Amino acid sequence: MKQIVLTGDRPTGRLHLGHYVGSIKPRITLQAHHDCFVMIADTQALSDNFDDPKKITESVVGVCRDYLAVGIDPTKSTVFIQSMVPELFELTSYFLNLVSVARLERNPTVKSELQQKRFADSVTAGFLCYPVSQAADITAFKATLVPVGDDQLPLVEVTNEIVRRFNRIYGKAVLVEAEAILSNVGRLVGTNGKAKASKSLGNAIFLSDSNEVVRQKINSMYTDPNHIKASDPGRVEGNVVFAYLDAFLDDKGELDDLKSRYQKGGLGDTVIKSILNSTIQTLLAPIRERMGLVKDSDIKDMLCEGSERARAAAAHTVSEVRDAIGFGYNKQ
Ligand code: TRP
Repeated sequence: MKQIVLTGDRPTGRLHLGHYVGSIKPRITLQAHHDCFVMIADTQALSDNFDDPKKITESVVGVCRDYLAVGIDPTKSTVFIQSMVPELFELTSYFLNLVSVARLERNPTVKSELQQKRFADSVTAGFLCYPVSQAADITAFKATLVPVGDDQLPLVEVTNEIVRRFNRIYGKAVLVEAEAILSNVGRLVGTNGKAKASKSLGNAIFLSDSNEVVRQKINSMYTDPNHIKASDPGRVEGNVVFAYLDAFLDDKGELDDLKSRYQKGGLGDTVIKSILNSTIQTLLAPIRERMGLVKDSDIKDMLCEGSERARAAAAHTVSEVRDAIGFGYNKQ
């Protein structure tokens, strides 16, 4: 059955391989059979970059360029900019009443983000409340499927709590609950072995990285510190090169063979790195090629059109929400 899919990314730089395996690849599959909305979350990005809006506005077109290059098809998916759909702000206002401050403070995603951010001990209301605005993003489109990385699960949970509360209090089944769709690969580690590949941690391979930069990043990946000579037995667990091979090498027979040869001893780091390099270069070559095909001005037009369509869908939900609350004043 056709469902509504919504997902998005904060535009704070170009997209990387972590985004690709975590949520972009699933979107490409989903757009063939469902109504997909893909949101560039500039408002959400502002919640932790409010003093550097340029970083966001300058990334919007680049993120969209990456989407198009990986195969998000604007005739199948509505790609739009969050701030161009003001209905989302209105919904956020109504939803803020439906969640406690304590609940927001307990959110594991927000907590771990706070540890990385500079306002660690004086969090802004905007940042603490971004999960509420994310609930608005999801429910405005009545999305039932949300392809995201596993770090976003607590946010989908809060969304569903808000949905249940709204429907209970305002007496109508206006809003629908959503289900997170996780990729089977899971979270991609950083090139330095840190738990998550991310732009801010400087440990990610970008879809737009050149051939040479990709090669350098792969060469600098952590392997097994005790695997000094090729003949030494090596560890596969916690080895970044194998983590990436797990995510990107399609031939699982070859992968198992590499793993057992590495564990036995006799397979050098340079060999596995060169296999990984050619795997990633093969993946990125057509993406890189498509990246140069569209003009900035065409991308901007596409985003404006997508935002208009998104706005119409969100406005429909907002009018139902207003009616449910009893704010239908101007309809006699
Ligand atoms: N929180 C997501 C991120 O950090 C971006 C996002 C905003 C999102 N709104 C969303 C994801 C709604 C899924 C659904 O990348």
